[in-house]
Parts: sequence; C-alpha cells; structure tokens
Amino acid sequence: MTQTHPKVELHLHLEGAAPPAFIRGLAAEKKMDISGIFDERGNYSYTDFWQFLKVYEAATETLKIPEDYHRLTLAVLEESAASGVIYSETFLSPDFCGGRDVGAWREYLHAIREAADLAEKRDGIILRGIVTAIRHFGPEKSKETALCAAETAGDWLVGFGLAGDEKMGKPKDFAWSFDAAREAGLRLTAHAGEWGGPESVRDAICDLGIERVGHGVRAIEDLALVDEIAEKGIVLEVCPGSNIALGLYPGWRTHPIHRLRERGVKVTVSTDDPPFFHTTMAREYQMLAEAFDWDDGVFEEIAKTSLAAAFCDEATREAVA
Ligand code: ADE
Ligand code: ZN
Repeated sequence: MTQTHPKVELHLHLEGAAPPAFIRGLAAEKKMDISGIFDERGNYSYTDFWQFLKVYEAATETLKIPEDYHRLTLAVLEESAASGVIYSETFLSPDFCGGRDVGAWREYLHAIREAADLAEKRDGIILRGIVTAIRHFGPEKSKETALCAAETAGDWLVGFGLAGDEKMGKPKDFAWSFDAAREAGLRLTAHAGEWGGPESVRDAICDLGIERVGHGVRAIEDLALVDEIAEKGIVLEVCPGSNIALGLYPGWRTHPIHRLRERGVKVTVSTDDPPFFHTTMAREYQMLAEAFDWDDGVFEEIAKTSLAAAFCDEATREAVA
C-alpha cells in the first residue's frame, strides 16, 4: 500500500531532492571538487541543520545553467513517481537560478517547466512550482526574489514561500515580499515551527498571511495555537523523516504529527529533501503506518487534505483527483 498508494507532496526542495550521484556527476563534468560534502558511502554528510544548509548550498553550486535544472527536474520526478507521487509542488529559488535576475530566472523556469512536462508524459506525475526566498539571505534579497516570482506568476508557478535559517530575523521582516507575491496572485506558505518555537509559527501566520506552514510541528508546544491552526484550517506541510534526521525529535513515535492530527489540524506528509534524509514518500508512509498504526483510511484522508491544499488551479486538481 505505502508504495503504490497515490500520494500528493506539497513540500519538496528541488535542489534538496538531487540524488548525490547526480550532483557528483555534474561536479565531475564541471571539474569541481565537492568531495567534502559526501561521506565515505557517497551520501551527503552533515552534523546539524546549519551544516546541512551549507552542504545544500555547496551541492547547488554544481547547478550552473538551465540545462542542469532540466536534468535535475527529470531525475527528481522519476524518484517521486516511483514512490507513488501523482502531484507535487516544489520549492524553487531565483537566488540559485540566475542570481535573482528576472531574465535569467525566466530561462531557468522555462527549462524546469519543460522537464516537468516531459515527466508528466513519461511518469504521469504533475509538478507545480513555489518560488522560495531564503531567510538567511536577508529581507532585501527576498524582495528581488519576490519580484522574480511576481513577474512569472501564473498557471505553473503557483506560490511563494520562505525557507532557510528560521533563527535569522522575524517573519515580519519579509512582509513586503509576501505582500508583493500575494498581489501577483501567488498563494503563500512559509517554513516556521521547525527551528523556531510556537511564537515563530504564530508570527508567520499573522505577519505574512500564509495559508500553509512549512513544518509547523513545534506548534504542539502551545495547545492554544494548535487549536487556532485547526480552527482557521491552516494546513501543515509536515516532513517527519526530515525532522527526525535533523534531530528535532528522537524517533517516529515521538513525532507530533499524530497528536496534531488527533487535535483536528490538517496535516499533510512530505519529504523536504529526500536524499539528505535517506527518505522517500513511500518510506514516510511506511514509517507513519508502523509508528501510529495508521491504516489506508488515514492515508487516503491525508492525500485528500493535501490535494485540497494544493496551490494549483481547479482544473489541475480535478485532473489529479
Ligand atoms: N531548505 C531546505 N530544507 C530546509 C528545511 N528543512 N528547513 C529550512 N530550509 C530548508
Ligand atoms: Zn523545507
């Protein structure tokens, strides 16, 4: 069931989904030495979240031209489809794709979309994009990122978000960027409640007007906030395997996804950066089934919740359903 069950993934970083062998191949082609980011078995190697961000950015350095992103998108969607994913939303960053230059960004976006179209025909998986500002690059750069997003908002590019180091700055520092994205018709999400506590989630909801929260799991530390999230129908993009691999929780049974769901929160399940965390969507489902005794009915409900919370247009949603 966990392999073949149709899945909807809402939280996937495109560069973070790059298989290590793919990145090593690009590095070899470009004669770059990035051996320091891998362990002896060839996996990405890091000791904590902040080092993870550095390794992520070092791996991303190998992605130099739109064609590299075209190849990356095909490789990533092949993996997702093999896990039973039928619809996915991926985070993209003009920061990495063309250095926030709108003209260059358009070329990267074109290459990624073309690859997504090919994968849709090849694997039957539908992809949509969410432009993501990087919090530790600061609010000024996020404005340029938001302008790139606003320029290319449309049927394929459906959302705007915020990732990176949650300990840097406050959500309200990014309000200008979120306002610009909203005015361009983009739907909004932001990482919060991963490395920041409940106040970080509350601030992101209040100051950025987001309708989904990336992670959001540390809301569990304030039950009044959990109830508010449930009441408002705000959706959490929960990535349990990521949280466990990064040491936020010691194991699957102690992960709060079950308690959040029991208290009425709309939870969804995603992988975040699957090869970094040795996970896949099939594994996430499998581990959740084992940890919480979740049956097919729970996973069907989660897939339904995810599709309803997807940022795509109604025609796409109906095509997936
Ligand atoms: N970028 C990629 N993965 C991330 C995560 N788990 N948290 C914040 N930013 C990220
Ligand atoms: Zn993430």
